Amino acid sequence: DKVILAYSGGLDTSCILKWFLEKKFEVICYMANIGQDEDFEQARQKALKIGASKVVIEDVREEFVTKYVWTAIQAGLIYESRYLLGTSLARPCISVGLIKCAKENQARYISHGATGKGNDQVRFELSCYSLDPDVKIIAPWRLEEFTARFQGRQDLLKYASDNGIPVSVTPKAPWSMDANLMHISYESGILEDPSNEAPSDLFLMTKDPKLAPDNSVRIEVEFQHGLPVSVTVGDEIHRNPLDMFILLNKIGGQHGVGRIDITENRFIGLKSRGVYETPAGYILHIAHTDLEVFSLDKEVYRVKQSLQNRLSDYVYNGFWFSPEGQYVRKCIVLAEEQVTGVVKLEIYKGNVFVLGRSSPVSLYNADLVSMDKHADFSPSDATGFINIHAIRLKEYNHYQNKI
Ligand code: ARG
Ligand code: SIN
Repeated sequence: DKVILAYSGGLDTSCILKWFLEKKFEVICYMANIGQDEDFEQARQKALKIGASKVVIEDVREEFVTKYVWTAIQAGLIYESRYLLGTSLARPCISVGLIKCAKENQARYISHGATGKGNDQVRFELSCYSLDPDVKIIAPWRLEEFTARFQGRQDLLKYASDNGIPVSVTPKAPWSMDANLMHISYESGILEDPSNEAPSDLFLMTKDPKLAPDNSVRIEVEFQHGLPVSVTVGDEIHRNPLDMFILLNKIGGQHGVGRIDITENRFIGLKSRGVYETPAGYILHIAHTDLEVFSLDKEVYRVKQSLQNRLSDYVYNGFWFSPEGQYVRKCIVLAEEQVTGVVKLEIYKGNVFVLGRSSPVSLYNADLVSMDKHADFSPSDATGFINIHAIRLKEYNHYQNKI
Protein backbone atom coordinates (compact mmCIF):
# COMPACT_ATOMS: atom_id res chain seq x y z
CA ASP A 1 0.00 0.00 0.00
CA LYS A 2 1.00 3.56 -0.67
CA VAL A 3 0.76 6.39 1.84
CA ILE A 4 1.23 10.12 1.37
CA LEU A 5 2.90 11.49 4.50
CA ALA A 6 2.67 15.19 5.38
CA TYR A 7 6.39 15.49 6.06
CA SER A 8 8.06 18.29 7.98
CA GLY A 9 11.67 17.14 7.98
CA GLY A 10 11.60 17.01 11.77
CA LEU A 11 12.11 14.14 14.19
CA ASP A 12 8.47 13.04 14.53
CA THR A 13 7.58 12.72 10.86
CA SER A 14 10.99 11.17 10.08
CA CYS A 15 10.31 8.42 12.60
CA ILE A 16 6.78 8.00 11.25
CA LEU A 17 8.25 7.61 7.77
CA LYS A 18 10.57 4.85 8.94
CA TRP A 19 7.79 3.18 10.90
CA PHE A 20 5.61 3.01 7.76
CA LEU A 21 8.48 1.42 5.87
CA GLU A 22 8.75 -1.23 8.59
CA LYS A 23 5.07 -1.91 8.04
CA LYS A 24 5.77 -2.46 4.33
CA PHE A 25 4.13 0.72 3.10
CA GLU A 26 5.51 2.63 0.17
CA VAL A 27 5.86 6.22 1.47
CA ILE A 28 5.64 9.38 -0.60
CA CYS A 29 6.52 12.47 1.41
CA TYR A 30 4.59 15.64 0.70
CA MET A 31 5.94 19.03 1.76
CA ALA A 32 4.12 22.28 1.14
CA ASN A 33 6.21 25.42 0.96
CA ILE A 34 3.75 27.67 2.73
CA GLY A 35 6.33 30.29 3.61
CA GLN A 36 8.10 28.57 6.51
CA ASP A 37 11.84 29.03 6.81
CA GLU A 38 12.96 25.54 5.79
CA ASP A 39 15.73 23.96 3.79
CA PHE A 40 13.49 21.92 1.50
CA GLU A 41 16.32 20.30 -0.42
CA GLN A 42 17.91 19.09 2.78
CA ALA A 43 14.56 17.71 3.94
CA ARG A 44 14.13 15.95 0.58
CA GLN A 45 17.53 14.30 0.89
CA LYS A 46 16.75 13.26 4.44
CA ALA A 47 13.42 11.65 3.47
CA LEU A 48 15.00 9.83 0.52
CA LYS A 49 17.82 8.59 2.71
CA ILE A 50 15.34 7.19 5.25
CA GLY A 51 13.59 5.42 2.40
CA ALA A 52 10.79 7.52 0.94
CA SER A 53 10.11 6.47 -2.64
CA LYS A 54 9.51 10.05 -3.63
CA VAL A 55 9.38 13.54 -2.11
CA VAL A 56 6.91 16.04 -3.53
CA ILE A 57 7.65 19.66 -2.65
CA GLU A 58 5.06 22.16 -3.75
CA ASP A 59 5.20 25.94 -3.49
CA VAL A 60 1.70 26.88 -2.34
CA ARG A 61 2.55 30.36 -1.02
CA GLU A 62 0.61 32.26 -3.68
CA GLU A 63 -2.41 30.02 -3.26
CA PHE A 64 -2.19 30.31 0.52
CA VAL A 65 -2.25 34.10 0.37
CA THR A 66 -4.88 34.59 -2.30
CA LYS A 67 -7.31 31.81 -1.33
CA TYR A 68 -6.93 31.52 2.43
CA VAL A 69 -5.26 34.57 3.99
CA TRP A 70 -7.19 37.00 1.78
CA THR A 71 -10.46 35.30 2.65
CA ALA A 72 -9.59 35.64 6.33
CA ILE A 73 -8.77 39.34 5.98
CA GLN A 74 -11.88 40.03 3.91
CA ALA A 75 -14.06 38.23 6.44
CA GLY A 76 -12.25 39.76 9.43
CA LEU A 77 -11.61 36.31 10.89
CA ILE A 78 -10.37 36.31 14.46
CA TYR A 79 -10.81 33.50 17.00
CA GLU A 80 -11.82 34.34 20.55
CA SER A 81 -11.19 38.03 19.79
CA ARG A 82 -7.43 37.67 19.35
CA TYR A 83 -6.07 34.77 17.31
CA LEU A 84 -5.77 35.52 13.59
CA LEU A 85 -5.84 31.81 12.68
CA GLY A 86 -2.48 31.43 10.93
CA THR A 87 -2.24 27.67 11.49
CA SER A 88 -5.95 27.04 11.02
CA LEU A 89 -5.83 28.61 7.55
CA ALA A 90 -2.78 26.64 6.49
CA ARG A 91 -4.28 23.22 7.19
CA PRO A 92 -6.98 23.18 4.48
CA CYS A 93 -4.45 24.60 2.00
CA ILE A 94 -1.96 21.81 2.78
CA SER A 95 -4.80 19.25 2.64
CA VAL A 96 -5.56 20.27 -0.94
CA GLY A 97 -1.93 19.47 -1.79
CA LEU A 98 -2.06 16.14 0.05
CA ILE A 99 -5.20 15.03 -1.76
CA LYS A 100 -3.83 16.11 -5.13
CA CYS A 101 -0.61 14.22 -4.41
CA ALA A 102 -2.59 11.12 -3.40
CA LYS A 103 -4.62 11.22 -6.62
CA GLU A 104 -1.59 11.73 -8.84
CA ASN A 105 0.18 8.81 -7.22
CA GLN A 106 -2.82 6.51 -6.83
CA ALA A 107 -2.37 6.39 -3.07
CA ARG A 108 -5.28 5.43 -0.86
CA TYR A 109 -3.75 6.56 2.43
CA ILE A 110 -2.75 9.90 3.90
CA SER A 111 -0.85 10.34 7.13
CA HIS A 112 0.23 13.25 9.34
CA GLY A 113 2.19 13.79 12.54
CA ALA A 114 -0.39 15.80 14.47
CA THR A 115 -1.07 14.66 18.01
CA GLY A 116 -4.31 13.32 19.43
CA LYS A 117 -4.84 16.31 21.69
CA GLY A 118 -4.77 19.07 19.13
CA ASN A 119 -6.73 20.95 16.53
CA ASP A 120 -4.51 20.08 13.60
CA GLN A 121 -5.53 16.42 13.41
CA VAL A 122 -9.15 17.53 13.12
CA ARG A 123 -8.38 20.15 10.47
CA PHE A 124 -6.28 17.86 8.29
CA GLU A 125 -8.71 15.02 8.45
CA LEU A 126 -11.95 16.95 8.01
CA SER A 127 -10.40 18.84 5.09
CA CYS A 128 -9.18 15.62 3.45
CA TYR A 129 -12.52 13.84 3.87
CA SER A 130 -14.32 16.85 2.39
CA LEU A 131 -12.05 16.81 -0.64
CA ASP A 132 -12.06 13.04 -1.12
CA PRO A 133 -14.59 10.97 0.81
CA ASP A 134 -12.77 7.74 -0.10
CA VAL A 135 -9.39 8.64 1.32
CA LYS A 136 -8.13 6.71 4.36
CA ILE A 137 -6.20 8.52 7.05
CA ILE A 138 -3.63 7.04 9.37
CA ALA A 139 -2.77 9.13 12.42
CA PRO A 140 0.11 7.29 14.12
CA TRP A 141 -0.10 9.44 17.26
CA ARG A 142 -3.56 7.98 17.84
CA LEU A 143 -2.57 4.35 17.28
CA GLU A 144 -2.04 2.21 20.32
CA GLU A 145 0.77 0.30 18.64
CA PHE A 146 2.62 3.52 17.84
CA THR A 147 2.16 5.36 21.10
CA ALA A 148 3.08 2.27 23.14
CA ARG A 149 6.38 2.20 21.32
CA PHE A 150 7.05 5.94 21.26
CA GLN A 151 6.12 7.34 24.60
CA GLY A 152 8.19 10.46 24.40
CA ARG A 153 10.95 12.28 22.70
CA GLN A 154 13.59 9.96 24.17
CA ASP A 155 12.04 6.98 22.36
CA LEU A 156 11.97 8.90 19.09
CA LEU A 157 15.61 9.91 19.48
CA LYS A 158 16.65 6.33 20.22
CA TYR A 159 14.65 5.01 17.25
CA ALA A 160 16.27 7.65 15.04
CA SER A 161 19.77 6.75 16.10
CA ASP A 162 19.07 2.99 15.79
CA ASN A 163 17.79 3.53 12.26
CA GLY A 164 20.32 6.00 10.94
CA ILE A 165 17.84 8.87 10.85
CA PRO A 166 19.83 12.12 11.01
CA VAL A 167 18.91 14.27 13.99
CA SER A 168 19.49 18.01 13.88
CA VAL A 169 22.56 19.00 15.90
CA THR A 170 21.08 22.31 17.03
CA PRO A 171 19.31 21.59 20.32
CA LYS A 172 15.55 21.63 20.07
CA ALA A 173 13.85 24.74 21.42
CA PRO A 174 11.86 23.97 24.58
CA TRP A 175 8.55 24.66 22.78
CA SER A 176 6.85 23.55 19.56
CA MET A 177 6.52 25.81 16.54
CA ASP A 178 4.37 26.01 13.48
CA ALA A 179 5.46 28.51 10.86
CA ASN A 180 3.99 29.78 7.63
CA LEU A 181 3.79 33.03 5.69
CA MET A 182 1.08 34.35 7.97
CA HIS A 183 2.49 33.55 11.36
CA ILE A 184 4.63 31.56 13.69
CA SER A 185 2.91 29.87 16.60
CA TYR A 186 4.66 28.64 19.72
CA GLU A 187 3.10 26.17 22.14
CA SER A 188 3.88 23.46 24.69
CA GLY A 189 7.12 22.81 26.54
CA ILE A 190 8.00 25.68 28.88
CA LEU A 191 4.98 27.62 27.57
CA GLU A 192 2.56 25.09 29.02
CA ASP A 193 2.60 26.96 32.32
CA PRO A 194 0.48 29.94 31.25
CA SER A 195 2.10 32.16 33.88
CA ASN A 196 5.59 31.67 32.40
CA GLU A 197 6.67 34.55 30.20
CA ALA A 198 7.80 33.69 26.70
CA PRO A 199 11.58 34.23 26.55
CA SER A 200 12.68 37.12 24.33
CA ASP A 201 14.67 34.85 22.01
CA LEU A 202 11.56 32.88 21.10
CA PHE A 203 10.28 35.39 18.56
CA LEU A 204 11.60 34.87 15.04
CA MET A 205 9.37 37.08 12.89
CA THR A 206 9.14 40.26 14.94
CA LYS A 207 11.52 42.51 16.77
CA ASP A 208 10.85 43.35 20.40
CA PRO A 209 8.70 46.52 20.14
CA LYS A 210 10.92 48.19 22.75
CA LEU A 211 13.92 47.76 20.44
CA ALA A 212 12.06 48.77 17.28
CA PRO A 213 13.20 51.86 15.33
CA ASP A 214 12.37 55.29 16.74
CA ASN A 215 11.15 56.35 13.31
CA SER A 216 7.67 55.24 12.33
CA VAL A 217 6.67 54.03 8.87
CA ARG A 218 3.63 55.30 7.03
CA ILE A 219 1.79 53.06 4.63
CA GLU A 220 -1.45 53.06 2.68
CA VAL A 221 -3.49 49.93 2.12
CA GLU A 222 -6.11 49.90 -0.61
CA PHE A 223 -9.02 47.47 -0.52
CA GLN A 224 -11.49 46.48 -3.21
CA HIS A 225 -14.57 44.58 -2.05
CA GLY A 226 -12.80 43.86 1.20
CA LEU A 227 -9.68 42.39 -0.43
CA PRO A 228 -6.28 44.09 -0.23
CA VAL A 229 -5.26 45.26 -3.73
CA SER A 230 -2.31 47.55 -3.10
CA VAL A 231 0.15 48.65 -0.46
CA THR A 232 1.95 51.97 -0.84
CA VAL A 233 5.11 52.83 1.09
CA GLY A 234 6.63 56.19 0.19
CA ASP A 235 6.45 56.35 -3.59
CA GLU A 236 6.57 52.57 -4.01
CA ILE A 237 3.34 50.77 -4.80
CA HIS A 238 2.95 46.99 -4.60
CA ARG A 239 0.05 45.12 -6.18
CA ASN A 240 1.13 41.49 -6.24
CA PRO A 241 -0.57 39.71 -3.31
CA LEU A 242 2.47 37.68 -2.31
CA ASP A 243 4.79 40.73 -2.57
CA MET A 244 2.38 42.87 -0.57
CA PHE A 245 2.11 40.31 2.16
CA ILE A 246 5.86 39.69 2.38
CA LEU A 247 6.48 43.45 2.48
CA LEU A 248 3.96 43.95 5.30
CA ASN A 249 5.56 41.07 7.21
CA LYS A 250 8.91 42.78 6.84
CA ILE A 251 7.68 46.20 7.96
CA GLY A 252 5.57 44.75 10.75
CA GLY A 253 8.42 42.50 11.83
CA GLN A 254 10.91 45.36 12.04
CA HIS A 255 8.48 47.40 14.13
CA GLY A 256 7.44 44.59 16.44
CA VAL A 257 3.84 44.38 15.28
CA GLY A 258 1.43 41.47 15.80
CA ARG A 259 2.65 39.61 18.87
CA ILE A 260 0.08 38.00 21.11
CA ASP A 261 0.26 35.71 24.11
CA ILE A 262 -3.04 33.98 24.84
CA THR A 263 -4.80 30.96 26.15
CA GLU A 264 -7.38 29.58 23.78
CA ASN A 265 -10.07 26.92 23.69
CA ARG A 266 -9.17 24.03 21.42
CA PHE A 267 -11.97 22.36 19.50
CA ILE A 268 -11.64 19.14 21.46
CA GLY A 269 -12.30 20.99 24.68
CA LEU A 270 -8.85 21.61 26.14
CA LYS A 271 -7.47 25.02 26.95
CA SER A 272 -4.01 25.67 25.59
CA ARG A 273 -1.52 28.50 25.80
CA GLY A 274 -0.19 29.93 22.57
CA VAL A 275 2.21 32.68 21.61
CA TYR A 276 1.87 34.06 18.10
CA GLU A 277 3.41 36.62 15.80
CA THR A 278 1.37 37.69 12.82
CA PRO A 279 2.81 40.99 11.54
CA ALA A 280 1.20 41.39 8.10
CA GLY A 281 -2.04 39.77 9.16
CA TYR A 282 -2.38 42.15 12.08
CA ILE A 283 -1.74 45.26 9.97
CA LEU A 284 -4.30 44.17 7.38
CA HIS A 285 -6.85 43.23 10.04
CA ILE A 286 -6.68 46.68 11.63
CA ALA A 287 -6.92 48.43 8.27
CA HIS A 288 -9.76 46.28 7.00
CA THR A 289 -11.83 46.66 10.17
CA ASP A 290 -11.48 50.42 9.96
CA LEU A 291 -12.65 50.57 6.36
CA GLU A 292 -15.50 48.20 7.04
CA VAL A 293 -17.04 50.26 9.83
CA PHE A 294 -16.50 53.37 7.71
CA SER A 295 -18.21 51.96 4.64
CA LEU A 296 -20.92 49.54 5.64
CA ASP A 297 -24.45 50.13 6.77
CA LYS A 298 -24.62 49.88 10.57
CA GLU A 299 -26.97 46.91 10.72
CA VAL A 300 -25.29 45.06 7.85
CA TYR A 301 -22.04 45.48 9.77
CA ARG A 302 -23.61 43.91 12.86
CA VAL A 303 -24.92 40.90 10.95
CA LYS A 304 -21.54 40.56 9.27
CA GLN A 305 -19.80 40.64 12.65
CA SER A 306 -21.86 37.75 13.91
CA LEU A 307 -21.13 35.80 10.71
CA GLN A 308 -17.45 36.60 11.07
CA ASN A 309 -17.46 35.07 14.54
CA ARG A 310 -19.18 31.97 13.26
CA LEU A 311 -16.79 31.60 10.35
CA SER A 312 -13.83 32.07 12.69
CA ASP A 313 -15.07 29.12 14.73
CA TYR A 314 -15.66 27.02 11.62
CA VAL A 315 -12.15 27.70 10.37
CA TYR A 316 -10.55 27.12 13.76
CA ASN A 317 -12.45 23.85 14.15
CA GLY A 318 -11.46 22.50 10.74
CA PHE A 319 -14.65 23.15 8.78
CA TRP A 320 -13.12 25.21 5.97
CA PHE A 321 -14.74 23.02 3.31
CA SER A 322 -18.14 22.75 4.96
CA PRO A 323 -21.57 23.74 3.66
CA GLU A 324 -21.99 26.21 6.52
CA GLY A 325 -18.55 27.68 5.81
CA GLN A 326 -19.33 28.17 2.13
CA TYR A 327 -22.69 29.68 2.89
CA VAL A 328 -21.41 32.18 5.46
CA ARG A 329 -18.52 33.12 3.21
CA LYS A 330 -20.90 33.99 0.40
CA CYS A 331 -22.96 36.18 2.73
CA ILE A 332 -19.85 37.99 3.89
CA VAL A 333 -18.63 38.55 0.33
CA LEU A 334 -21.98 40.17 -0.42
CA ALA A 335 -21.50 42.66 2.43
CA GLU A 336 -17.90 43.29 1.42
CA GLU A 337 -18.94 44.54 -2.03
CA GLN A 338 -19.06 47.94 -0.40
CA VAL A 339 -15.71 47.75 1.40
CA THR A 340 -13.59 49.64 -1.10
CA GLY A 341 -11.16 52.41 -0.34
CA VAL A 342 -7.83 53.36 1.19
CA VAL A 343 -6.64 53.32 4.81
CA LYS A 344 -3.64 55.37 5.88
CA LEU A 345 -1.58 53.79 8.66
CA GLU A 346 1.41 54.55 10.82
CA ILE A 347 3.44 51.65 12.18
CA TYR A 348 5.39 52.42 15.32
CA LYS A 349 6.88 50.26 18.09
CA GLY A 350 4.37 47.44 18.00
CA ASN A 351 1.41 49.67 17.16
CA VAL A 352 -0.66 50.14 14.05
CA PHE A 353 -2.27 53.57 14.14
CA VAL A 354 -4.98 54.49 11.68
CA LEU A 355 -4.38 58.05 10.45
CA GLY A 356 -7.25 58.37 7.99
CA ARG A 357 -9.42 56.58 5.48
CA SER A 358 -11.28 57.33 2.27
CA SER A 359 -13.77 55.48 0.14
CA PRO A 360 -15.75 56.28 -2.99
CA VAL A 361 -18.68 54.18 -1.75
CA SER A 362 -18.78 54.71 2.01
CA LEU A 363 -22.07 55.64 3.67
CA TYR A 364 -20.21 58.29 5.64
CA ASN A 365 -21.87 61.66 5.01
CA ALA A 366 -19.91 64.63 6.29
CA ASP A 367 -22.82 67.02 5.73
CA LEU A 368 -25.21 64.86 7.70
CA VAL A 369 -22.99 64.53 10.74
CA SER A 370 -21.54 68.05 10.73
CA MET A 371 -22.08 70.20 13.82
CA ASP A 372 -22.03 73.23 11.56
CA LYS A 373 -24.89 72.28 9.27
CA HIS A 374 -28.60 71.68 9.66
CA ALA A 375 -29.77 68.19 8.80
CA ASP A 376 -33.13 67.23 7.31
CA PHE A 377 -34.40 66.27 10.75
CA SER A 378 -34.99 68.77 13.53
CA PRO A 379 -33.37 68.85 16.98
CA SER A 380 -36.80 68.18 18.54
CA ASP A 381 -36.83 64.80 16.73
CA ALA A 382 -33.77 63.89 18.81
CA THR A 383 -35.62 64.95 21.98
CA GLY A 384 -38.44 62.57 21.07
CA PHE A 385 -35.95 59.82 20.25
CA ILE A 386 -34.41 60.14 23.71
CA ASN A 387 -37.78 60.37 25.49
CA ILE A 388 -39.03 57.18 23.89
CA HIS A 389 -35.87 55.29 24.76
CA ALA A 390 -36.07 56.61 28.31
CA ILE A 391 -39.52 55.04 28.94
CA ARG A 392 -38.05 51.63 29.61
CA LEU A 393 -35.16 52.93 31.69
CA LYS A 394 -37.49 54.99 33.92
CA GLU A 395 -39.70 51.97 34.49
CA TYR A 396 -36.69 49.93 35.44
CA ASN A 397 -35.62 52.60 37.94
CA HIS A 398 -39.07 52.41 39.59
CA TYR A 399 -38.85 48.65 39.76
CA GLN A 400 -35.39 48.73 41.34
CA ASN A 401 -36.57 51.19 44.01
CA LYS A 402 -39.37 48.79 44.97
CA ILE A 403 -37.17 45.76 45.70
N1 ARG B 1 -3.12 26.69 18.56
C1 ARG B 1 -2.98 27.07 17.20
C2 ARG B 1 -4.11 26.51 16.39
O1 ARG B 1 -4.76 25.63 16.83
C3 ARG B 1 -1.63 26.69 16.66
C4 ARG B 1 -1.40 25.23 16.45
C5 ARG B 1 0.02 24.97 16.09
N2 ARG B 1 0.20 23.68 15.52
C6 ARG B 1 1.33 22.98 15.64
N3 ARG B 1 1.37 21.82 15.05
N4 ARG B 1 2.37 23.41 16.33
O2 ARG B 1 -4.36 26.94 15.30
C1 SIN C 1 -0.67 19.08 17.68
O1 SIN C 1 -1.29 18.61 18.64
O2 SIN C 1 -0.28 18.38 16.75
C2 SIN C 1 -0.36 20.55 17.68
C3 SIN C 1 -1.36 21.37 18.39
C4 SIN C 1 -2.70 21.44 17.75
O3 SIN C 1 -2.93 20.80 16.72
O4 SIN C 1 -3.59 22.14 18.28
